[in-house]
Amino acid sequence: PRAAVLISGRGSNMMSLIEAASAPDYPVEIAVVISNRPEAHGLARAQACNIPTRTLDHKAHADRAAFDAALHAVLEEEQADFVCLAGFMRLLTAGFVEKWQGRMINIHPALLPSYKGLHTHERALADGVKIHGATVHFVTPEMDVGPIIMQAAVPVLEGDTPDSLGARVLAQEHVIYPAALRLVAEGRARITEGRVAIDEFEI
Ligand code: GRF
Repeated sequence: PRAAVLISGRGSNMMSLIEAASAPDYPVEIAVVISNRPEAHGLARAQACNIPTRTLDHKAHADRAAFDAALHAVLEEEQADFVCLAGFMRLLTAGFVEKWQGRMINIHPALLPSYKGLHTHERALADGVKIHGATVHFVTPEMDVGPIIMQAAVPVLEGDTPDSLGARVLAQEHVIYPAALRLVAEGRARITEGRVAIDEFEI
């Protein structure tokens, strides 16, 4: 199967997927990286790994529906079986999401359902939580709500800043995203009654 990775920025999660997929036994090929921002640093990083890239500038589209239609067309053209959102900073329309339901996953830098949305590390520190983390989930029309595939927890340490906590979380993102994509691609993570049932796995 072929996965498309959607980015908007630096692309460190994208790199973790590309690196994992370079192993001979990984079940998915990273077929294309698509950015909605022409200046996204991740584009050059993907190109350096010989991964084809496409830029689909949202500013060049009249509205969300037009952008999502163009995105869908590119994904079909690239024969994508799966879509991985990796720091893709655009909301997707329900119509688009429904077309990819069960085949599109996202990484979020918090332990969902806590801290949906932006600035998760700042908010976790402000609340004084002692455990924070990251979540890979299937994408559904409502943001950061879809069925959870995998999570990793990290401690919040005394003296943490959003940056230090974010770096600790990011290191775990890079572990669980490739592992979760593997489970999905192998059909070992299935949505039943709104939850994800997972077969046994090792990271
Ligand atoms: C990550 O923290 C990811 O969880 C969030 O956006 C950030 C993207 O970072 N959705 P990168 O572009 O993968 O380095």
